[in-house]
Amino acid sequence: MDLKEYLGNRSALVDQTLEKYLPAGDRMPQSLHQSMRYSVFAGGKRLRPILMIAACEAVGGSAQDVLHAACALEMIHTYSLVHDDLPAMDDDDFRRGRPTNHKVYGEATAILAGDALLTEAFRLLADAKANSGVSAEKALRVIEILARYAGSQGMVGGQVVDMESEGKEIDFPTLEYIHTHKTGALILASVQVGALLGGGDEEQFAALTRFGGAAGLAFQIADDILDVVGEQADLGKDVGSDQERGKATYPALLGVSDARIRAGELCVIAVEALAPLGDKAATLQSLARYIIDRSS
Ligand code: IPE
Ligand code: IPE
Ligand code: MG
Ligand code: MG
Ligand code: MG
Repeated sequence: MDLKEYLGNRSALVDQTLEKYLPAGDRMPQSLHQSMRYSVFAGGKRLRPILMIAACEAVGGSAQDVLHAACALEMIHTYSLVHDDLPAMDDDDFRRGRPTNHKVYGEATAILAGDALLTEAFRLLADAKANSGVSAEKALRVIEILARYAGSQGMVGGQVVDMESEGKEIDFPTLEYIHTHKTGALILASVQVGALLGGGDEEQFAALTRFGGAAGLAFQIADDILDVVGEQADLGKDVGSDQERGKATYPALLGVSDARIRAGELCVIAVEALAPLGDKAATLQSLARYIIDRSS
């Protein structure tokens, strides 16, 4: 299967499962459920769930083993986007090809839709039916990993330093902290959970941890570059907003050309980390290249 086909196939699977797990829009409170669904079903790339599935397959598991956790992770990611776009944060008007959640539902509902997506994600991770076939010990480890990488020492921590760095000159270690935390953390979590639920051993878990660290940082460098050189029509979100807000980005610190070189180096590190997994990691290799070459 080529990568395009793989992305289409696995994201359709994730979408079908999300449809099953998200409360219907006509269920009380309707405005909240409609707001949650508005952002989840706006057509994201589903990269984190796809990485989780690909990591699971690379250690001998199948998509079915991780689908509930993949949906929970996409719910956490979508909540982070809804909050990231709020006027108090990046104040953006477009996301996933649509007006941002708060533009349609208002700030209060957008905040609460994010809160609910985060909370529902952990309900799903703890749901006995969704976890059928997974030992209680493993299910707990998955919850711990996702909470750790989403929380104050993960994504939220990165978002705070991102906000505190706006308009300031920051050093390289701070920039790397922002990127590895606000974005790298959930990408790393995706492959770790894939390894765990796919039945990977310690060596495979360690290899995927190295892969996820490098791929996660490369993903945010590519995101920064696309904010400078990308097209709004492809990205489905505002471009040029990083410079406007004085964000700490790789292009701002290194220039676009050196930022591209750094993303390329990280892609090589990610691919090399996959060596212990052999041929089964071919899809993850393609995904590493896609992360830095994408136009959306
Ligand atoms: C955007 O993530 C936010 C970042 C963490 C850089 P994606 O580029 O994966 O956004 P979607 O999910 O495809 O909309
Ligand atoms: C967002 O980083 C990271 C999270 C949402 C956690 P950005 O602010 O660069 O993401 P975009 O560019 O708005 O998608
Ligand atoms: Mg942001
Ligand atoms: Mg943003
Ligand atoms: Mg960005």
